[in-house]
Formats: sequence, structure tokens, C-alpha cells
Amino acid sequence: MARRDLISALTAIVGSGHVLTDEAVTKGYRTDWTGRWEGRATAVVRPASTDEVSAVVRACAGAGVAVVPQGGNTGLVGASIPHDGEVLLSLRRLDAVDAVDPVEQTLAAGAGTTVAAAQAAAAQVGLMLGIDLAARESATLGGAVATNAGGLRVVRLGATRAQLLGIEAVLADGSVLRRWTGLVKDNVGYDLVGLLTGSEGTLGVVTRVLMRLVSRPAHVHVVLVGVASLAAATEALAGLRRCGLTIEAAEYFHSDGLELVTSRLGLRAPFGGDFPTYLLVETSGLAEADVLDALSGLGPLLGDATVEAGPGSRLWAYREGHTEAISAAAVSRGGAPLKVDVAVPLRRLAAFEAAVRDRIGERFPDVQVVTFGHLAEGNAHVNLLGLAGASADEATDLVLRLVIDHGGSISAEHGVGRAKQPWLSLARSPVDIAAMRAIKNALDPAGILSPGVLLPPPVSS
Ligand code: MLT
Ligand code: ZN
Repeated sequence: MARRDLISALTAIVGSGHVLTDEAVTKGYRTDWTGRWEGRATAVVRPASTDEVSAVVRACAGAGVAVVPQGGNTGLVGASIPHDGEVLLSLRRLDAVDAVDPVEQTLAAGAGTTVAAAQAAAAQVGLMLGIDLAARESATLGGAVATNAGGLRVVRLGATRAQLLGIEAVLADGSVLRRWTGLVKDNVGYDLVGLLTGSEGTLGVVTRVLMRLVSRPAHVHVVLVGVASLAAATEALAGLRRCGLTIEAAEYFHSDGLELVTSRLGLRAPFGGDFPTYLLVETSGLAEADVLDALSGLGPLLGDATVEAGPGSRLWAYREGHTEAISAAAVSRGGAPLKVDVAVPLRRLAAFEAAVRDRIGERFPDVQVVTFGHLAEGNAHVNLLGLAGASADEATDLVLRLVIDHGGSISAEHGVGRAKQPWLSLARSPVDIAAMRAIKNALDPAGILSPGVLLPPPVSS
């Protein structure tokens, strides 16, 4: 089918207002949040229902044109933008929260529903969505599922996979897969809901989700602690856990990141003095006096501390402002930051970060390394500012090899996408990659869905 015929077919499915081809109009869809990735699209198509998604995928498969699904376009590994002429399938119009059930504790919604909208709907019945991300206002449930997003609540509730009870997804041939019992106990066959979660758009297009809701924690306090080092932050977190504090979130950042955030957002520094590292913990279930007791039990580890009654946003702003402040600082130095999301065992996190700073400093002396992340999971977000685009692969290679040396994972919560696809074999054995390839071939034999994301494109014979 010629390109013009495909555009006509897509227009007949979704209406002319929802097939975008003008380059200026599609730029926002074709460029990722950081500005590092920009691709070419045959068209941006904006369906409004699962049936329309199914018809679009069927038309594209018939024309042999690949499809890349996109939610809020907040991804950081280039998985949800087109590369070279795919149809970009925006799910943002599937944004209805269909049902919130306070008895079953579930929320059914379209894939394009933002995390913030789902959180608000859950709060209306006194419950809470188990996913929270700094990008909540734009990130969508479908995107969170596609990447198995982690975020701020993983320490107590697990990542997105643990929050998902049902899924509706369009497969590569346009057929609609629906697993929707909503039962926590449902062991009939392979876990296709779990399989699609984290598949980064390569196995199906998520169109609707059935999320688990959880009770809202009571007596929430946000605690910010200044400490002497990342190792001290890790010890302090272990100490607070030993005291029996229920940890809802445990995050860290350093003085360099804090400085970028305070100047970007015009905030005052949290303490009179500066500390090399900061630990932000959200606790629940205890009165402020008990939280203060637990903090004093940290002894000399504790440089300074401040407590805010939850749900609080004042202290969280220092942590949540990092992504935007880092991006702005990198742009002022000439380009997007190189962002590398990784995890290492908690005991080895401080040594890993020190090795990254040393090795990047030796090889790229003008590059600024800013790290922060989710401490409880040993999840570091390594950001390199001022790195020339041509050095991105070398720097990525350096960081990811250090991750492996420290027993870690090359993708903690952002996915593999295009950014890390060339390094897949660092983290997965040939047998493992062959098994993933077999699954991909079984569900998408023509390679229609997100080619080049996660797995290398098949070598044509
Ligand atoms: C975060 O934890 O804020 C996000 O993963 C975004 C980022 O890595 O910049
Ligand atoms: Zn993160």
C-alpha cells in the first residue's frame, strides 16, 4: 500500500483531525522529553477507542508500516518516539476513568489516563493508586504499564507490575487481548498481563488497564536528613527501618543536584548548613514524636533533619525538582543530559557512584555528573551534563559496564528502549535473549510493533 493510501485508510478510521502529518505539528510527538531523541513519522495517529487502535494497527500491518505507541511522552530511553517512518500511535485520547470500585479496590481506565488523574479518582473513594512518579501530570497509565514504571512508592508497594490486575491490549495483527477478571488469585495459564507489562510497546498496544488500589497510609511524615555521604544515607535508612518505621518512600540526592534545584525553582536551602548528601524518607503510622525519636537514634549519622507533616510537598520539591533542573542546566551547557537509569545492590551503591565519578572525570573532565534516585532500591539516576552527543555511546558503555561490575541492572525503571538496546547482552545471556526473541516472533512475526526498541531489529537474510 502506498503511503497516501495508508493515510487515507487511517483517516477513515480516526477522522482527518486525528491524522497529523505536518512536521511542525508532529514535532512534539516525534521528540522525546529530554530532546535527545527525534525521529521521522509517516503520521501521528490519535485514536479514541480500542476498536480504533485495533483498526489502525491492522491497517499499518497490512501496509507493512511499523507502529510505535506513545502515552504522555515522558519516557527517557527513546522507546516511545518514532525512528524512521513508523506510524506514531498516540494513546492520549483514551483518557477516561471508567470505573473506580471501592469494594474490589480497583480502577479501570483508558491507557491515556494520566497518573495524576487516576490518583485523583482513587482519592475520591478514599483509596490510593499504588504508582507515583514526579512526571505524574503527563505520564499515562499505559506508559507506566509499558515500562513497568517504578517511581516513588516501590519500596512498600512494588513497581507497576504489582499494581496491575487486568489489561486490554491490541496485538500486532489487530486482535484484542483482554484479561480482566480483577482477581488477585487467577492462575489460569501464562501471566500475559505480567508479560505485557514492561514490554515497551514491542508485544502489544495497551489500551485499557485495571489497576489495583491500596489503602491510604495514615499519619504520614516527610523527613529530610542531611548526611555526610551516600554510604551514611544508606546506613541511616537501614537504621530507620530497624526502628520499625514504615517506609513509604526513600529517596536520595546530593548537594550538586540540590543546588541546581534551589536555583531553578527559587527555593531556599532546606538547612542552615550544606551536606554532601540528603536522604528523604516518607513514613507512615507513627506520631511525629516517634519519628523524631527514630531520627535521634541515628546518632552521629544525622547531620541535620527536618520533618513535615504529610501529605507534604515542601520537602518533596527538593527531590522532585531534579529532572527539570538537570535538564535546564544541561541545555544551558549546550544539549540534553545523558540520562542513565540503573540499579545496584544497596551495599554497593556508594562505591558504584564513586567509580562513575572517577571514571567519567578521567575520561570526560568537563562533564558534570549529577546523581540522585530511589535509595531503597539502589536505583541511581546518573545524569551527565555537558557531554558531546558524539560521546554518548562511549559514556553509556562506561557507566553500564560499571553497573555490571557492581552486580547491578542496566535498566532499573525506565526500560531499555533504544538508548540501551545495544547493551542488552551485558545484562542478559544469549539463552535469555533468544527466549525474548521467540516471544517477540510469536506475537509479532512481522516486527510491526516498536522495531529496534528493547531487542535489536531482526537481521534480514
Ligand atoms: C525520577 O525519579 O524523578 C525519574 O525517574 C526521572 C529521572 O530519572 O530524571
Ligand atoms: Zn526515577
